[in-house]
Amino acid sequence: MIIIFGATGDLTKRKLLPAINNLHKKGLIDCPVICIGRRDISNTEYIKLVGLKSSDSFSKLIHYFKTDLTESNNPLFVKFIKKEFKEHKCKGKLFYFAIPQKLFKPVIDLIKASKLLSGGWNRVVFEKPFGYDLVTAKELNKQVSTIFKEKDIYRIDHFLGKELVQNIQVLRFTNSIFEQMWSNEFIDNVQVIMDEKVLVGSRGGYYDNAGAVRDMVQNHAMQILSLIAMEPPKRMTNEEIIKEKIKVLKALKPVKPSDIVLGQYKGYRGERGVDPHSDTETFTALKFNINNDRWKGVPFYIRTGKALSKSLTEVNLVLKRVKSDLICKNEVPNIISIRIKPEEGVSIRFNNKLPGHGLETSPVKMDFCHRCLFDNNPEAYEVLIHEVFMGNKGLFTSWDEVVHSWKFIDDLLSKNGKVRKYERGSSGSMIARKLLSKDRREWVEIN
Ligand code: BG6
Repeated sequence: MIIIFGATGDLTKRKLLPAINNLHKKGLIDCPVICIGRRDISNTEYIKLVGLKSSDSFSKLIHYFKTDLTESNNPLFVKFIKKEFKEHKCKGKLFYFAIPQKLFKPVIDLIKASKLLSGGWNRVVFEKPFGYDLVTAKELNKQVSTIFKEKDIYRIDHFLGKELVQNIQVLRFTNSIFEQMWSNEFIDNVQVIMDEKVLVGSRGGYYDNAGAVRDMVQNHAMQILSLIAMEPPKRMTNEEIIKEKIKVLKALKPVKPSDIVLGQYKGYRGERGVDPHSDTETFTALKFNINNDRWKGVPFYIRTGKALSKSLTEVNLVLKRVKSDLICKNEVPNIISIRIKPEEGVSIRFNNKLPGHGLETSPVKMDFCHRCLFDNNPEAYEVLIHEVFMGNKGLFTSWDEVVHSWKFIDDLLSKNGKVRKYERGSSGSMIARKLLSKDRREWVEIN
């Protein structure tokens, strides 16, 4: 059984219900979905609101309840949940907190007071932000841990459900062509780029309190970075992988103020829910260094922002140039690109001789297009919700990762860089050009 708190919110409509519907269509989920929201609407109206048709078989599983979550007692829906659970012979309950963090405590009190945790497995799922900083993250974790054990807490970082993010380990640990190069012996720098064209839209209230570093770097970028940089785990078990990822987070050197770029797009202060004097960053570019043997001397550049010229999520590993006597005109460094979004795939850029006399080169690309070969990529949320049902925690953020990531980000944010304005539609590489040019490098722009 699935119980969604925050059923009328954007996440439930855009991501959760479509994902559960797909799992239902594949025959993987056939249990009631109890949707709890604040709006006073009927079940039929709710089904319409979330874009489903009453005739869909999935709609028959949906039950909407209007509830004020700040009341810790609601006999009606509690009775209903218990009855449905029994009738459908459900094996467990998945509690999805698609709600702001201030509502976690009342919801936890409600679950506790209603004795909903009896029978079968009980797992709780929630999304970032996991707190606003380390202190608030600890408070939040304490609240959730009063009724759920760590093994039953699933913290979603939806990037971990993305096919090409999951593919990072396979790429590294099953291909000698890549694994042999994966160190400072061959790699000059790594660039994690998460550019977005979209503005903050209807999420101004949340975003203005978070900003690009908390919204994208503390979680998504840190996950990608630790998957790219970790040592091969002793065994491919969840515990061993997490151990290695945490070692990376612990080995991050504090970021220097001169290695932090912050920006805000023009017009942001006029967005709905945004403070008209806000200095929240909608763009950031950062330089990280990892203090270990493998990555000594290799900077990791992270870049993300809204209202940019392109929507693109990719990791570029820029290789060192070959030491050789053969100097060709227009020679460029090799680049291994892992494209996470859009057009998922992996490519390698190399120099190729231009036909004709002389040794002039032209950069060319060997490109693997993921969707061209595999057209059944499930959406990240579909993958993740299914994993919760299976009781697999491998694609979720552990508490220790949250702690170490916040320690690093709290320090970074305390350095309070100046937030510069940029035009909407600007290129991310241009806004943060200096961060790399001062190191005599440039942002990769091949995709
Ligand atoms: C979310 C952020 O976690 O990720 C959003 O809160 C961002 O601000 C989104 O737009 C990007 O995810 P995706 O899957 O669209 O690349």
